[in-house]
Amino acid sequence: MKLLIDDANLDEIRRLYDLYPIDGVTTNPSILSKTGRNPFEVLREIRAFIGKEADFHAQVIAKDAAGMIEDAHAIVKELGEGTYVKIPCVPEGFKAMKSLKKEGILTTGTTIYTSMQAYLAAKSGASYTAPYINRIDNMGYDGIRVAKEIQDIFEMHGMETQILAASFKNSQQVLELCKYGIGASTVAPAVLDGFVNNIAITGAIDVFVNDFEKINGEGATMSTAKK
Ligand code: G3P
Repeated sequence: MKLLIDDANLDEIRRLYDLYPIDGVTTNPSILSKTGRNPFEVLREIRAFIGKEADFHAQVIAKDAAGMIEDAHAIVKELGEGTYVKIPCVPEGFKAMKSLKKEGILTTGTTIYTSMQAYLAAKSGASYTAPYINRIDNMGYDGIRVAKEIQDIFEMHGMETQILAASFKNSQQVLELCKYGIGASTVAPAVLDGFVNNIAITGAIDVFVNDFEKINGEGATMSTAKK
């Protein structure tokens, strides 16, 4: 499963890239607006940092197909041909996806709350489909079940489209999809840090270090211990 960062704060992106095996970055208009800056400036900085080979998803704003296609052209022009253009899975969005597919522009069907939205996005040529796990849960439905159902549909019909699961509130939700063979998940920095934020882990490491220091002195490590 690919692991992406769902954020536009470059300091956070740099920190997480430094620590973890990250495959790319996703943004949406709300995430970009939190930076309080020009969206293209921010997006270009992220692209420059992650490199042109990394997965990068940026969303259109226009609500009609013609406008979405123009937004897609602007995104690809500024951020590179390998950029995935996120398009909401609504009727005009499917129209835009079909057209962009013919142009060879990569798309990600987003704002997915139902499996049939993903099915239509896949048939319209989207490379990824993004079900909103936590937002579905918050509506009283089961986001994990929706994502698994989408995966089953893609497999059953031999569709090449992958899932880019989004909107997570905890690592358990990501784990459930990891176990199910989902293609990619995009997670907020706090959720990603939460994968290993566990006192049992840090406690075990502290015991190892304390035991080592008993024999080798405070602050000693393998590189500094007497050879
Ligand atoms: O980008 C879409 C998705 O990641 C939104 O997540 O946390 O705002 O529900 P969230």
